[in-house]
Amino acid sequence: MGKSSELALDQLPAPLHKIALAMQPLYRATPAAIRKIVLEAGVRPEDLQAWADFDHPASDSYGRKLAYKGDHFEIMVMSWRPGDASAIHDHGFTQWGAVQVFGPGEHATFRIEEGVMHTASRGVLQPGQVIAVSHDLMHQMINPTTDEPFFSLHVYGLDHEIDNVTGEARVFDVVNGQVQRVDGGVFYALPPEGIKYIDEGPRGDFPTRLRHLVELARRMKKFGHPDLPRIADLIFSGEQREELFSFLQEILDENLHQTDSTAWCVINREMKEAGRFQDEWLKDLRGADPFHQYAEWYDALVGKPCLDGFMANYLRFFLDHYGVALSKSSILSLGCGTGLTEEFLIRELGVPYANLEGIDVSDAMLEVARRRIQARKEDIFDLGPWARRKGYRLQRAECFSIPRPPSAGRGDSPHRLRGSARRIFSGRFYHPRPYSLVSQRGMVARPDDDIPSQSPVDRRGRAYFPAERDHQYSLSGREDAGFVRRQASAFSASHAPGEGLF
Ligand SMILES: [Fe+2]
Repeated sequence: MGKSSELALDQLPAPLHKIALAMQPLYRATPAAIRKIVLEAGVRPEDLQAWADFDHPASDSYGRKLAYKGDHFEIMVMSWRPGDASAIHDHGFTQWGAVQVFGPGEHATFRIEEGVMHTASRGVLQPGQVIAVSHDLMHQMINPTTDEPFFSLHVYGLDHEIDNVTGEARVFDVVNGQVQRVDGGVFYALPPEGIKYIDEGPRGDFPTRLRHLVELARRMKKFGHPDLPRIADLIFSGEQREELFSFLQEILDENLHQTDSTAWCVINREMKEAGRFQDEWLKDLRGADPFHQYAEWYDALVGKPCLDGFMANYLRFFLDHYGVALSKSSILSLGCGTGLTEEFLIRELGVPYANLEGIDVSDAMLEVARRRIQARKEDIFDLGPWARRKGYRLQRAECFSIPRPPSAGRGDSPHRLRGSARRIFSGRFYHPRPYSLVSQRGMVARPDDDIPSQSPVDRRGRAYFPAERDHQYSLSGREDAGFVRRQASAFSASHAPGEGLF
């Protein structure tokens, strides 16, 4: 049962009164018949205002109120704040019903085949649209807007008297292969007291699991659920990449053209949604406490994927191409972050431990770096003698960056696919904007494609070297000193020789 603001029959607004009167004698019906009743009632959003629940607790996935309870049917009003999303669910004992949505609600339906749940459809409803609800319907509703709360009206019934028409509804946990039976809201992250009992259930295919995780994480984020880091780990784990490729193999032919247009649309949509979540997640981590929490996530989200997918090969290419003897070099690493690349420089490329220094704006990052390579952390302005000893000219430390390849335009160009592929292989494979994972014509980059891994390339596959200089960091000088002093500190790996690293 929903939170009850149930009114007597004759107190209902006229359109709801009309629906209730039509339902009362109706012990045998079809979803289509209920849909027609709701459509013909002419309900307007203002008729539902008495049951508005937009201030519902953040732990509730949406607002939910019972408007009227008949012997064998019920009328409910749901309030959807921007970002609200139901879990994937069915409707308990309901045999037939209808839902009218009064905003651009996103609606997804699901089917189970051979024990696996698939997303059958996902799309946006027109305000005022009415969908029929059968006993077999498994679906999900979302308010995908950022600024538009709206109502939905729900009418559910069956052929005999009952206290709770939607009792024992199934909430599908498609990651753990479980079904939660609930008598209340079909919410994400339900507390144990909100679950009547748990059954075995289907696991989802890759897109269904991914969207489940993303919406679950979003809900958890809204009320600070302690399990959120674990769920985020799942979303960003390397296993997702493997599972993505397995899924793609199922829906592509030998020419890499998709063979299932529904699955194709669904995977595109879910990947973009995961990309949006990734952006939200990183933005939150950066914004709340600059770098503090981010430092904990940096290696998993950015550092390791970049090192494995690009940086390691780039450094090896640089050494081979220019014949640089790192064993005799001193390195100043600008923006050293958590020291992941610096550890690689020491372990794999032979940079002497005592010849490596790093600078970063984040104390939290440097703390991770300090622990990683047992370095000494100091304020950069306390390093004068150190800097002179090393011969660095900190007045003008220059940073080199790789120019971006020219835009390849829109479409399915090989360059575009290579861009997508690099993103995939670098681990940052959720992306909401121009690089969709897969192109509209049905091509996809494969693991064994000819992906240039040593350097950025232009459209003809030419490598871009040498790098262009496009940033300069002035690390001292009157005008910049304050900024640097506030934001920069440094680690120095210049221990006495023999002081243990590994
Ligand atoms: Fe529903």
